[in-house]
Amino acid sequence: MENDKSLLKVEDLKTYFYSKEGTVKAVDGVNFSINRGETLGIAGESGCGKSVTAQSILRLTPKNGRIENGRILLRTDEKTVDLVSLKASGDEIRKIRGKKISIIFQEPMTSFSMVHTIGSQIIEVIRLHQGCTRKEARDRTLELLNMVGLSAEQAIDAYPFSLSGGMRQRAMIAMSLSCMPSLLIADEPTTAVDVTIQAQVLKLLRRIQKEKQMALIMITHDLAVLSELCDKVMIMYLGKDVEHAPTKELFSNPKHPYTKGLLNSVPKLHQGPRQKIEAIKGTVPSPYALPTGCSFHPRCPDFIPGLCDKEIPKLFDVDENHKVSCFLYQ
Ligand SMILES: Nc1ncnc2c1ncn2[C@@H]1O[C@H](COP(=O)(O)OP(=O)(O)OP(=O)(O)O)[C@@H](O)[C@H]1O
Ligand SMILES: [Mg+2]
Repeated sequence: MENDKSLLKVEDLKTYFYSKEGTVKAVDGVNFSINRGETLGIAGESGCGKSVTAQSILRLTPKNGRIENGRILLRTDEKTVDLVSLKASGDEIRKIRGKKISIIFQEPMTSFSMVHTIGSQIIEVIRLHQGCTRKEARDRTLELLNMVGLSAEQAIDAYPFSLSGGMRQRAMIAMSLSCMPSLLIADEPTTAVDVTIQAQVLKLLRRIQKEKQMALIMITHDLAVLSELCDKVMIMYLGKDVEHAPTKELFSNPKHPYTKGLLNSVPKLHQGPRQKIEAIKGTVPSPYALPTGCSFHPRCPDFIPGLCDKEIPKLFDVDENHKVSCFLYQ
């Protein structure tokens, strides 16, 4: 891997789903890397492959899906492992899940079992990975629940359904941090909670990340979250990474017409209530009937006939850390 700090490197990842209706190329050649302590934001419209990218890293793709190509290199203290080469339900990936890489899902109800207390579930994760005594695991759980701002003595014996959405989300974060992973993936962690809680959860994530030098992949629709939280951003469209840039650069100097469209579809505070919001025209096409060439071309204001509808652009360098897959920058 490139440098001492590099933690995860994803190369030409392809994850496809198979069904009677056909093949969905949910992730179709995605590339990115992340250093220790760094935050990468992943954004793009619904159905662009953000969650499937996350599932692929953890090897949690649903049964009808398969990683068809690529490498996911994870650097641990001892060595570099290609997660794609591991058996999806084998011991090796199981040891990595939760311990080295952990995930927070959009809806914490799906991650907690309803029939066990929050405490017993976190304690079990800690014991599984760290082989400590029950007492030690319980103390650690109390510490974690405190850290995420819950009253630990109460939360530890509570059942998931008895907590409010915001509290459940905090408990979920506590569980995902229980083994202090080197990488946390947050897949839309705040869509199920209201705005005030959202701000608190983000603040919490940022604090913990700084304290623990944990790398974070933040999947979000929310551009404000990207700009506040992330060092760099990857924009996805229909399974492909279409633009990569440091966050500031992406917001001040977006290159891909799709990125420009995404940024323009958000109202700007300083322009007041009467501004015209230019959403991207059309909708994301069906994954079963992808356009030829660049899959964004039917919606693109800068479409070059004869080129964009014929060939697939590769990632071109516009600057040292700024890459874009668009023929305008060839
Ligand atoms: N189990 C599955 N079987 C078939 N297709 C699937 C499956 N899971 C996801 N897909 C498809 O893969 C594509 C990518 O889905 P994904 O969930 O990664 O999108 P996303 O970017 O996370 O969207 P959202 O912002 O709505 O969460 C979509 O076309 C989706 O329908
Ligand atoms: Mg998703």
